[in-house]
Amino acid sequence: MIPESFIQDLLQRIDIVDVIDPLVPLKKAGSNYAARCPFHNEKSPSFTVSPSKQFYHCFGCGAHGSAIGFLMEYQGLSFVDAIKALADRVGLQVPQEPRRGGGHGDFESAPRPAAQTRALTDLLASAARYYYEQLKRSDKAIGYLKQRGLSGEIAAKFGIGYAPEGWQNLEEIFPNYQDAQLQAAGLVIKNDQGRLYDRFRDRIMIPIVNQKNEVIGFGGRVLGSGEPKYLNSPETPVFEKGRELFGLPQARVGLRETDTAIVVEGYMDVIALAQHGVGNAVATLGTATTATHIQKLFRQVERVVFCFDGDAAGRKAAWRALENALDSLSDQKTVAFVFLPPEHDPDSYVRERGKDAFQATVAQATPLSDFLIQHLSAEADPHTAEGRAKLVAEAKPLLLKLTAPLLRLQLVKRLADTTGFSQQEVERLCELRHIAPPAPARVPRQAPSLMRGLIEVLLQKPELARDLPLTLLPGGDPEARAVLRLAQAILAAEAPLPYATLIERLRGSSEEALIREVAGRLLQQAPAEGSDETAVLDEVWRGYLDQLTRDQLDQEFQRLTKKAQEAGLDADEKQEYARLVVEMNRLGRISRRR
Ligand code: UTP
Ligand code: MN
Repeated sequence: MIPESFIQDLLQRIDIVDVIDPLVPLKKAGSNYAARCPFHNEKSPSFTVSPSKQFYHCFGCGAHGSAIGFLMEYQGLSFVDAIKALADRVGLQVPQEPRRGGGHGDFESAPRPAAQTRALTDLLASAARYYYEQLKRSDKAIGYLKQRGLSGEIAAKFGIGYAPEGWQNLEEIFPNYQDAQLQAAGLVIKNDQGRLYDRFRDRIMIPIVNQKNEVIGFGGRVLGSGEPKYLNSPETPVFEKGRELFGLPQARVGLRETDTAIVVEGYMDVIALAQHGVGNAVATLGTATTATHIQKLFRQVERVVFCFDGDAAGRKAAWRALENALDSLSDQKTVAFVFLPPEHDPDSYVRERGKDAFQATVAQATPLSDFLIQHLSAEADPHTAEGRAKLVAEAKPLLLKLTAPLLRLQLVKRLADTTGFSQQEVERLCELRHIAPPAPARVPRQAPSLMRGLIEVLLQKPELARDLPLTLLPGGDPEARAVLRLAQAILAAEAPLPYATLIERLRGSSEEALIREVAGRLLQQAPAEGSDETAVLDEVWRGYLDQLTRDQLDQEFQRLTKKAQEAGLDADEKQEYARLVVEMNRLGRISRRR
């Protein structure tokens, strides 16, 4: 774990406006900043950034968080990586913690000096601009894209360009053509004779852009036939194929809107799908789907659908993807598979049959559990005793990787059905240890807005948490729990916490959503200028506390009234009843006076 004091320190040093503005250009709007939301499609800006409170909030889609949350959401970074990225900006060193178990994932690649990375991505961005300009001048290249059915709009969205014929065109934009950085970026190649030449010549250029909106490489397609069909950037310090997915930044809104990522195999599949209104597809870069790819997608969506060819190669690729997905699955995160007819890829399919037909295949995708059983049954004949034993043996390592309890249980049942073993036998054969199934989700109850009011005041004047009478909070009410959680987070800190730090403390708690929502609503209120805001807050706060007291008295009053009618009151209860009446009168007068 990264110490909280570090997170707090970090959030105090950075300005969320500086973090967001280069990625999503912001306009000043009153005391806040606004932009069209990067997380959903909209015409008028409802994405708001508060410089005083250091958080963003979208009134359209509810996106909300600190600078850390923004990088996680926008760039699909993990919590730790988002903190590292921010720490880099201000030159802070993230306190090192020992690596935990596993071994795959976020820390695989060694950190690189930001300056070197920046130099390469700048060169690649310049090259992308050059290719983009060249496309406008080449009727041949434009003709090729048109003939493939691509609109100018979609070509622009993906920044598609053209590398003209010729060996040293890039000299035009890089006068220092000898610069070794150009070779490091994969743009220029040095042959055995020491001669330098452009890697990409007479090809349609498809930039590969990461989630920081940096160009990290290219795929270059021949116009028409020729070998190789695609020439790709080599792996470089900024381009690691096993980590990157083509089309991720362009799919940002699509992913969020559908909560689904469609993983396809080709650049052109992603582009054609986008052209036909399927905006949530991404492609691997000529490599198998890795666990890193899947983790990256699961940070942004709940469902990943692999869409591969229906041939043997496609099934093989799907199985690899399944194996790499198992340990990223939870009961909320699902994986499914679409196998297109053998004569199609997603590009040809969507062009021939249209968006709705494609969406229908995605909706009816084969769930991971079905595909797993199908695949294993095809390998081991479930009609023979040996085959059935083999089937369970092959399932064992897969089941052991799976930590999602409900999915695993479902698979165990399916395996039992297929093999004729009992469920217990399958569990014993696979040496499965018990995973506790999650508690059923509680149905949220509509609670009084008083709790929201308390949250609102606490967010604006956290020190009031000290005189919140915890015993007055109604038990069992989820909104009251949020008040309690917020108050505890505030009280646990030595010094008053800014909101951005508070929201990081609450990250992942079930109370987080309500607190975010209330914080978002606060943004809409114009700050009371000139007037003594904290005095107003004190007043409002006292009103709420009185209300809490009244509610409690009222409940007790109701109880005793009922008892009086049904069974009568004893002496003590009568006394209590009288006290309640006096107390309620007092509070009533106070509140009327206000
Ligand atoms: P495909 O051959 O299926 O590509 O290869 P595609 O997208 O359908 O190509 P079009 O429609 O003919 O233009 C799938 C992916 O495999 C990689 C590329 O990433 C490609 O998008 N590939 C393929 C290469 O890297 N090099 C090749 O020569 C071929
Ligand atoms: Mn194709």
